[in-house]
Amino acid sequence: MKALQLYMLLHIILTASVVVNTFSPFQDFKNLLRKIFNPEESCDSTWISFNASGLEADLESKLFGQHIASGIILKAVSGFMSDENPKKPLVLSLHGRTGTGKNFVSKLIAKNIYKNGEDSSFVHVLTSELHYSHQSKFDIYKAELQQRIKGNVTSCARSMFIFDEMDQMHPGLIDTIKPFLGYHSKLDGVSYRKAIFIFLSNAGGESITQTALDFWRNGQDREEIRLKDLETLLSVSAFNNKNSGLWHSSLIDKNLVDFFVPFLPLEYRHVVQCAMVEMRARGLQPDLNVADQVAKDLIYFPKSEEVFSAQGCKTICRRLHNYT
Ligand SMILES: *[C@@H]1O[C@H](CO)[C@@H](O)[C@H](O)[C@H]1NC(C)=O
Ligand SMILES: *[C@@H]1O[C@H](CO)[C@@H](O)[C@H](O)[C@H]1NC(C)=O
Repeated sequence: MKALQLYMLLHIILTASVVVNTFSPFQDFKNLLRKIFNPEESCDSTWISFNASGLEADLESKLFGQHIASGIILKAVSGFMSDENPKKPLVLSLHGRTGTGKNFVSKLIAKNIYKNGEDSSFVHVLTSELHYSHQSKFDIYKAELQQRIKGNVTSCARSMFIFDEMDQMHPGLIDTIKPFLGYHSKLDGVSYRKAIFIFLSNAGGESITQTALDFWRNGQDREEIRLKDLETLLSVSAFNNKNSGLWHSSLIDKNLVDFFVPFLPLEYRHVVQCAMVEMRARGLQPDLNVADQVAKDLIYFPKSEEVFSAQGCKTICRRLHNYT
């Protein structure tokens, strides 16, 4: 118990000290302390408990320019987490250009479910290792992936899997995970119904951008864009990339994906908001002039009108270093 109290004290001191988050050595130190003093994270309500109002507040105050995504995510996750007996795992497919907040939203979801947030041992991020690989290695990857999902869900039903760059994933691996996403009550004695799968991809990003641009050119408010304006874009036909079309169609056909979530391209004003939040997160006094400066130095497209940020909010974090 002593160790726990000491840990708590150090944790509070470190967390309270705003400087901490600015320098990664401190962050590493904090992680080290967590490892040494923290009791083992367990698969129960001490470590896993959904905070609906927390997620709502986070989406409201930290995610910018995504009124559609924000609404769907809150509804989907809240509904799923309050269901004691879900019929299938929650499967979300997030689509949009880079830097629009897909990764960020996954972290917000994790933060409001797991006490340790994205660092939780029940949150698994799967990425480039799943890309096209040598055929010879494919069978190994496939077996590993299956084992990884099965093993982790066996030890904790409330596990979360985030698949980054889903559109570049080997189509064969998609077939591998498909059985986990369905309505089976059990597979090999394991139930996957309480797990959460989140797929991130740029697929469909171009069409979403085109719709947003059309609205802008018509002088319509961005907030007037409705899910139905984008829904057909996210259907199979819109996917020109051969691979992304493949995974997409095979998941759609079987109704395995519960929600397709579009992320709109970000405008100048959103980038400014991102910069302000980032400064606050670092314990700096948010300075609109600095935020403006950071936003001004980004590239916007299309060239003639310069409406949307090419990088979204992605490089803000790194760029702020040059201004503050
Ligand atoms: C839920 O989140 C809100 C907002 O972040 C926070 O104030 C509150 O303490 C959280 N509740 C729990 C039970 O963690
Ligand atoms: C669970 O996932 C982690 C990676 O996120 C992996 O290292 C580990 O082997 C998995 N556990 C099981 C039992 O498969």
